[in-house]
Amino acid sequence: METVVSGIRPTGNLHIGNYFGAVKSFVQMQNAYNCYFFIADWHSLTTYPKPDDIVQNARTILAEYLACGIDPEKATIYIQSDVKEVLELYLYLNMNAYLGELERTTTFKEKARQQPDNVNAGLLTYPTLMAADILVHKAVKVPVGKDQEQNMEMTRKFARRFNNIYDVELFPEPASFSFTSKAIKIPGLDGSGKMGKSDGNCIYLKEDAASIRKKVMKAVTDSGPTAPNSEKPEVIQNLFTFLDIVSTKDTYDYFNGKWNDGSIRYGDLKKQLAEDIVAFNEPIRERIEEYMGNTELLDKIARQGTEKAHESARKTIRQVREIIGFRKHP
Ligand code: TYM
Repeated sequence: METVVSGIRPTGNLHIGNYFGAVKSFVQMQNAYNCYFFIADWHSLTTYPKPDDIVQNARTILAEYLACGIDPEKATIYIQSDVKEVLELYLYLNMNAYLGELERTTTFKEKARQQPDNVNAGLLTYPTLMAADILVHKAVKVPVGKDQEQNMEMTRKFARRFNNIYDVELFPEPASFSFTSKAIKIPGLDGSGKMGKSDGNCIYLKEDAASIRKKVMKAVTDSGPTAPNSEKPEVIQNLFTFLDIVSTKDTYDYFNGKWNDGSIRYGDLKKQLAEDIVAFNEPIRERIEEYMGNTELLDKIARQGTEKAHESARKTIRQVREIIGFRKHP
């Protein structure tokens, strides 16, 4: 069975960008692949060096994974920092990762701009740690949103480079995967960029109906179509992207028709959209609450996942040590 790996940083609650960009694919893939879904707590230190409660942050994502339908009987769910083999691979990959290429990645440049006082080596080598996460299980597919494309290119490059340097065929080159035909980017509600963890532009899976309605009604729009069948400006296209993912095809077609004939009322569209998001979120929200109350279960699932992840990672590290020429037993 082919192997799949993906992870999410525990820097808050999951939002619907995370869900449609990644978690929805996790849920689908767990039935047909050997899946490893982890919580990238080491990665979050690159931006948040002193989190309040690392253990609890990881539990939050774990509860949300489960609430979305990831099944620990099918997929291996674990916490990145529990599987130290990843660090050993990270070190080997870093020996063949070059400053120039790391400095050139868009996410590094962006982060360096956002946190000029903390341009740390972890940030620079973020893509090598991500490659280690993926390659340690020899994954062939990685369900991620569009924003991770460059990191995925780096992962393929590091895999190829390792194979070339040591003249082996150890690592496959993993492909990004999305449940849609194209990599997906969920927009923010503030009219620009992508949905991220900032309150104005994002809807969390655990958000209640009143708050969702308020946010959707405040989403940025324009003054309306200027001519029939005109192209949608970005802020309007964003609303249609949401309709496309959470509403029925009939609803989408109805508002699309109204856009095309110029009779659209954004207030109506937003009301419908808000109700469709609420209907989508509600069952997930209830399950998040249930799981969050069951710390014992969450910790047990993480422990079991760690064991399975260890087993797979250990095998790869043994091969890597042998290939480079280390003694088999450290
Ligand atoms: P992170 O924690 O920023 O985001 C987790 C996942 O959610 C997706 N995502 C989105 N997709 C579409 N539209 C959006 N607005 C949106 N916002 C977030 C992301 O693409 C991602 O799939 N580097 C990763 C974590 C990571 C990882 C890995 C992923 C570490 N190691 C190995 C895969 C494999 C990250 O920061 O994701």
